Formats: sequence, C-alpha cells, structure tokens
Amino acid sequence: MAVATRGIPDVDLFSDEVLLDPYPVYAELRELAPVVHLPATGVWALTRYAPVRAALGDPRVFSSRAVAFNDRMNAALAGTSLATDPPDHQRLRSALTENLSPRAVRKLKAGIDAKADAMVAELIERGTFDAIDDLARALPLAVVVDLIGLQGDVRDKILDWGYAAFNVLGPMNERTVANFPVAGELFEWAHHIKEEELAEGSMGRAIFAAAERGEIPYESCGMIIHQYVAAGMDTTIASIGNAIALFAAHPDQFDLVREDPSLIPSAFNEVLRYEAPAPIFGRLVTEDVEIDGTVIPAGAQAAVLLAAGNRDPRHYQDPDSFQVRRNPADHLSFGYGTHGCAGQGLARLEAFAVIGALARRVRRFAVGPGERRINNMTRSLDTLPVVEIEAA
Ligand code: HEM
Repeated sequence: MAVATRGIPDVDLFSDEVLLDPYPVYAELRELAPVVHLPATGVWALTRYAPVRAALGDPRVFSSRAVAFNDRMNAALAGTSLATDPPDHQRLRSALTENLSPRAVRKLKAGIDAKADAMVAELIERGTFDAIDDLARALPLAVVVDLIGLQGDVRDKILDWGYAAFNVLGPMNERTVANFPVAGELFEWAHHIKEEELAEGSMGRAIFAAAERGEIPYESCGMIIHQYVAAGMDTTIASIGNAIALFAAHPDQFDLVREDPSLIPSAFNEVLRYEAPAPIFGRLVTEDVEIDGTVIPAGAQAAVLLAAGNRDPRHYQDPDSFQVRRNPADHLSFGYGTHGCAGQGLARLEAFAVIGALARRVRRFAVGPGERRINNMTRSLDTLPVVEIEAA
C-alpha cells in the first residue's frame, strides 16, 4: 500500500511553545486531517474525536507497546498493565484494579470528603493561598499517602516522583533525560518496598496480603504501588488545579454549581474535556492502517491527541467554551476501551470532594496569574495564587 503523507513540517508536539499553548496547534492539525504525519519528530498524530476513540478501542492495531515516546521507557514499562496488550493485559489489570473497584473506592469517600472540607475551611480562614500547592497538590498527596500507607520521609518525595514519572514518557528531549534519575528513584523504591514499611490497615498492606494468599504474584506488589503513584498523582493534581482555575475564570459557571451541587459530576466531566490532564498518549501501529485516505505504515509511532479530540467541533458543539451543564461523559481524558483509566473512580472522588467543599463554603474567589511548569505528558498549573476569597 502506498503511504500518503499529508503533513505540516516542524511541529514538535513536545516543544516548550506547543506544551505551553497547545490548543491552536491542535486545532490546526485537526482541521488539516484526522491523521497528520509530523516529519520533524516522525510521529503520526490522530487529531479528531472519532479516530482517537477508534484507535484507543483497537489495541491490536494501536498497541500500547509504544505508549511512551521513547524506547527506554517503553522497555521499562514492559509487564505493566499500561504497556501490555490483550490478552495478557487483563490479568495485570485485574491485580491492579482490585483496590480501585467502585466498592473499594466507596469506602474512602467519607474520609476524602472530610479532608477536602477541612482544607477548604482552613484556606478560607487564611484568606490568601496558592490553589495548587495548598489544595490541588495537598489533597491527592494526603489521599495517596494514607491509601498506600506511606510513612516517614518518603512522603516528601511523592510529588517529585509523580511529576517525573510522567515527564519521562515523552520523546528523548531534555526534559525526559533530566527526569530519568528521579523517575528511577520511584521505580527502585517501589520495587524494593517491604510490607512492614507500610501502615497497618492500608491498601498497600492489602496488596501484600493478596500476594501472601497467592492471589497475585509477590513481584507485582511493587509494580502496583508504582503505578498508583506514577499514574495517580500528577493527573489528579492537574484536574483539580484546572477545575479551580476554570471556576475562577468563569464565575457564572461556578455559581451554577454552587446553586445546584448535583451538577458537580457534569462540571468535572467538562473540566476534564476542556483541559485533558494528560493530553497525549502513544501507540505503536502494528500494521498499515488507513484513516480517511491516509495510510499510517506498520511500525509507526502514533500520538493519540486526547485533548484535540475533546475539542473537536465535529463531536462537541462550541467546544472551546466551558459549560458545566454540558456533561460530556464521553470525553477522552480517561482514555477509552482496554486501557481506560483504572483509577478514575478515585480521581472523581477527590475532585468531587474539592469542588463540593468549594461550592458549599465559598461565594466568590479571585486569582492572580497562574504559572505552568512544563511537563512532556501532563498539562497542569504549577502555581495559582488566590488573592481574595469570600465565604458563602
Ligand atoms: C483526573 C485524573 C486522571 C486522569 C485524567 C487519568 C488518565 C488516564 C488515561 C488517559 C489513561 C489511559 C492511558 C492509555 O490509554 O494508554 C489512564 C490509565 C490508567 N490510570 Fe489514570 N488518570 C487519572 C487518575 C488516575 C488515578 C488516581 C489512578 C490510580 C490511583 C490511575 C491509574 C491508572 C492506571 C493504573 C492506568 C492504566 C490502566 C490500564 O492500562 O489498563 N489514574 N489514566
């Protein structure tokens, strides 16, 4: 089959410029074609909602063996559920999701709600604070530390580890190279962790107990804990930070949620659609595949642009507007199909808790300019100063 290439040269999806302001580039690529070859970096970008979802739903042709954009990480991820295709994927995922099932997660709800409520109450007292450090990072950190049962100084490292774990999934640019040592520390720690280092009654302990009962291989305990930290921190932090920033920028939308808290699930879906915390995932194309007249050759590295699909006007009306009543439950930010996010129940619980506490306790708040710390794979604010807050 001939390879038809429609391309715009020299767009590096992982350059500082694009990562800082990706949506104009995503829009240009999306309007060009559903699949665009980017010769500068050699990747094939899937740009529209329908092909993105179809690719995620077809792990035979779009394999997760190249979920990262560099060979070293793809090799390191071998044997994780994230990077394994069916049929082996199912076994790995079952071990991982045991503690993330709706039933398991429901037990955590009251504790997470109480933590978020206490945090928001204390921040209102303070008057000014940083929404990212003091809330978007603080809650997931507290939740993951308690959940896994982490003790001692390892707690201080979790944030850096979570940030690095995503950065190294990018192509071999400076950011990836600089983050390998930190991501390696997380890997080493998780794979050598001992049961007795984890707090009694924690989920971390439960994972080891399952191995002792022979339900999962002992070696997978470290890998599961690694994935909870690597996959669960930066994404959740981004989503909570984005929610706060979007409510500050759209007070009318915040008012709708305050007046009717039953809108919280819909509002969070809209936050995720509008700003995908992890905008791109990679796939290895296993055979020539044609999309709308363009053939992606076997062996190609695909870049699946979840964030571009989420803003596709072919699928969502007026996609660049933020509307908490929209309820786009079919957004792509948790992925789709086989690898669809295993931790989404927990992520929702955390975000609902923060949004709920804000809606209950805050009438209005104002923020100063936020700053980004660029990450190859997650799109998150680094700081967002709250300069004024009025209690409800
Ligand atoms: C808002 C927060 C989150 C977002 C946006 C998010 C996003 C995603 C996406 C897009 C995927 C699919 C990747 C792919 O198709 O290659 C994924 C998979 C995954 N997520 Fe999340 N995630 C979030 C929170 C979490 C949390 C809190 C955990 C765990 C504690 C978690 C654990 C995982 C795991 C283990 C996978 C791999 C599943 C598999 O391969 O079967 N995620 N996530």
